[in-house]
Amino acid sequence: MNRVAITGALSYTGRYLSKYLLSNGTKSVLSLSRRTIPLSSHVLSSSDLSKITTTTLDFNSREKMEVELKGVDVLFCTYWIRFERDGDTHEKAAERVRELFLAAKSAGVSKVVFSSHTRTSLTSPYSYIRGKALAESYLRSICSSSTMNYSIVRPCGIFGDKPVESILMNNAAWVMRRTPLFLLAGKGGETFQPVHVRDMAKLMGDLGKSKDTTGEEMDACGPDAPTALELFRRLNGSVGGRGFVVPSGLPTRVIGAMTKPIDWLTGDVLLDTDDLDLLGSGLTFANEPSDPLIKGRRSLFQWIDEVKDELGQEYVSSIQRYYKTK
Ligand SMILES: NC(=O)c1ccc[n+]([C@@H]2O[C@H](COP(=O)([O-])OP(=O)(O)OC[C@H]3O[C@@H](n4cnc5c(N)ncnc54)[C@H](OP(=O)(O)O)[C@@H]3O)[C@@H](O)[C@H]2O)c1
Repeated sequence: MNRVAITGALSYTGRYLSKYLLSNGTKSVLSLSRRTIPLSSHVLSSSDLSKITTTTLDFNSREKMEVELKGVDVLFCTYWIRFERDGDTHEKAAERVRELFLAAKSAGVSKVVFSSHTRTSLTSPYSYIRGKALAESYLRSICSSSTMNYSIVRPCGIFGDKPVESILMNNAAWVMRRTPLFLLAGKGGETFQPVHVRDMAKLMGDLGKSKDTTGEEMDACGPDAPTALELFRRLNGSVGGRGFVVPSGLPTRVIGAMTKPIDWLTGDVLLDTDDLDLLGSGLTFANEPSDPLIKGRRSLFQWIDEVKDELGQEYVSSIQRYYKTK
């Protein structure tokens, strides 16, 4: 792959993916993004940055996207919206990536690698999962009627080198450091199997490198798959939390409502109810637990031990991260 395009090459997963590809022979990266400076100075060197050019994604103009994608071997699409907000929906996000896939096809891109979510389904009650399933179906359909190849990778959570990159665990630790009670919705029995961002980047990068193969659809999960109760009790113990982690039996919207004072304080959305519902949905673990790649990946528990002193020291705003880029 001489030249690749990545949605958000300076953002979270995209930054690590850029690093992986540029360290493994890729000559240049086109970043399709709102960002012109990296989300964090960590990961990319100035030499890496000199090989990355940025252009804004204009989903309203397939022609413009096509022009920009000319000469690109592989498109890595991580584009997505975390919450449905201000009238924007996951279904609309799926329509937008469809335009991008069609532009890639017309531009002669050899392969698209798309990051989805574990256990997608078109009939899921969760808009995130339904939207991803729709985007996947568009990609399959576009590739079936062209020579463009595709792969789909499916994470359910991504933790990074730095605690602040891992919003869920960082902000849970932030709450644990400050409050006597950390209430879980329901019984906290659902399994969660996140992946380290470097393993996610490697999986996407390696699938891109085999650009003559198609139809790979793989979980992007790590080796540890704790229940919510196990995970948050362990996190609480590691960061020296002030109180107890308790399965409340309460519905997610009640737990969400209880965190509103934190939102007023931070101007953020600590717990989006849809997000929390998805976490408690039983859809956040690998479909193929016997996938041999999973065992060799970085351990979530080890990561918690490594970064415990930093985890939750500062609050990380999802709104700032995903909705304000300046
Ligand atoms: N992070 C997780 O825990 C997690 C869990 C399950 C699945 N995933 C999936 O894995 C992929 C990578 O996730 P990530 O957290 O690493 O994402 P990310 O790098 O922060 O963002 C990926 C891309 O989406 C764009 N984007 C995000 N929010 C946007 C918004 N509100 N408006 C316009 N563009 C927006 C970013 O644009 P800019 O470059 O302009 O910022 C970037 O191009 C995504 O497809 C996500 O759905 C992630």
